[in-house]
Amino acid sequence: MTIRVGIIGQGYVASTLALGLARIKEGEIGLNGIPFQNFIKSYRVEDVEIVSSIDVDANKIGLSLLDVVRMYFPSLSKKYESLERVRVSPGIHLGSTRNLPIKAVGIESEVGLENAIYEIVNEWDKSGVDVLVNLITTEYSEPLESFHHLHKLIRSNEYEGLPATYAYVYAAAVYAETVKPVAFINAIPATVARSRSIVRAFEERNSIVLGDDGASGATPLTSDILEYLAERNRVPRGVVQFNIGGNLDFLALLDETRNKAKEKTKSSVVSDVLGFEVPTFIKPTGYVEYLGDKKFVSMHIETIGFNESIDEIVVNARINDSPALAGLLVDLVRLAKIALNAGYRGTLYEINSFYMKSPGPEGSKSISRIVAYQILVDWLLRMGELTRLPRYSVHNFIPELKKIYDL
Ligand SMILES: NC(=O)c1ccc[n+]([C@@H]2O[C@H](COP(=O)([O-])OP(=O)(O)OC[C@H]3O[C@@H](n4cnc5c(N)ncnc54)[C@H](O)[C@@H]3O)[C@@H](O)[C@H]2O)c1
Repeated sequence: MTIRVGIIGQGYVASTLALGLARIKEGEIGLNGIPFQNFIKSYRVEDVEIVSSIDVDANKIGLSLLDVVRMYFPSLSKKYESLERVRVSPGIHLGSTRNLPIKAVGIESEVGLENAIYEIVNEWDKSGVDVLVNLITTEYSEPLESFHHLHKLIRSNEYEGLPATYAYVYAAAVYAETVKPVAFINAIPATVARSRSIVRAFEERNSIVLGDDGASGATPLTSDILEYLAERNRVPRGVVQFNIGGNLDFLALLDETRNKAKEKTKSSVVSDVLGFEVPTFIKPTGYVEYLGDKKFVSMHIETIGFNESIDEIVVNARINDSPALAGLLVDLVRLAKIALNAGYRGTLYEINSFYMKSPGPEGSKSISRIVAYQILVDWLLRMGELTRLPRYSVHNFIPELKKIYDL
């Protein structure tokens, strides 16, 4: 069975996802970078199909996915039929690309916000989306005060300062109410799955929201190193993590409020994993064009060990930014649909804690990925959704655990 995916923000990550899926379906590449590969019972990777795409960049609107993918992969000569079928539709702007070298247009400036939302719902209805993935330019947002308040703002066309993500969240809620239940995956730092009122609104519409901010690069690695140190009672004295990249997202992050949003989702990891505060500097630190999508990451952690010995961990890495998240999204889309089919409503910490930097619901801790992985495997086992036990699952090593699931 196909999972019909609607993309919001056809940028680098979304285009890498589209191309990677097309190449997998043609048998050109393997499943590297997709954690649960084809071990999930209900849906294979090949079942994920992008059926709709929305953007505000005037240079992308109206183009096929294949043409947009070629903007990021100019040497691509092969034609992929699945990418030619989908065209980029116009979206709601609300100023989300301010200060960026993008000629942006939003349908709200022509028809007003409320009508724009209905146009978006109509676009999703035509393509029958099951799962939406928010990948627009990094946005900052406070938790939403109330869904009713959002409703009033939209009805009165008073959208000054409203994050575009909230307009899409609202559109998804309307879609859930009028068409069918939906899953909304928020892969950006806006506060969505951590917003109580949004989670409740989705719950009431038999729908799901996952988020916030995909955990793809150095931050999950930092959380795992901190867990390693904490388990050995080697006490960190400070954590520093630099990220410098050359893609549009890094350019966008030069903007103070966007950078704050990322800093919030990234640096909460330290106190969440350790349980106490230490001096920390973790935030996107710069834009240098020649680095392109392959960002430079550097990390330093100083710890106090036995007999007051001082150790230092230094990690340097170059990490391809977009494929790191795109691979996770192939799982997220499938797990969201499985949860939806199984009758889950609202949000699921079991999924968010592994794939997201700041997992919802509101007040949840960000935990190390090593621990989160085990929680997720356990959830998948309880769902009867694994065709085989992953090698790294604790269930492999503890006979009692194996017995519980009759493995
Ligand atoms: N590894 C990663 O790359 C990673 C990890 C975690 C989170 N993210 C988040 O994913 C998002 C996308 O990253 P990217 O590298 O693809 O960025 P990008 O700048 O390449 O793409 C963003 C796209 O969104 C479009 N857009 C902006 N505002 C829009 C709106 N209101 N409606 C519809 N489309 C809109 C832009 O025109 C652009 O095409 C960012 O918010 C980033 O914070 C990325």
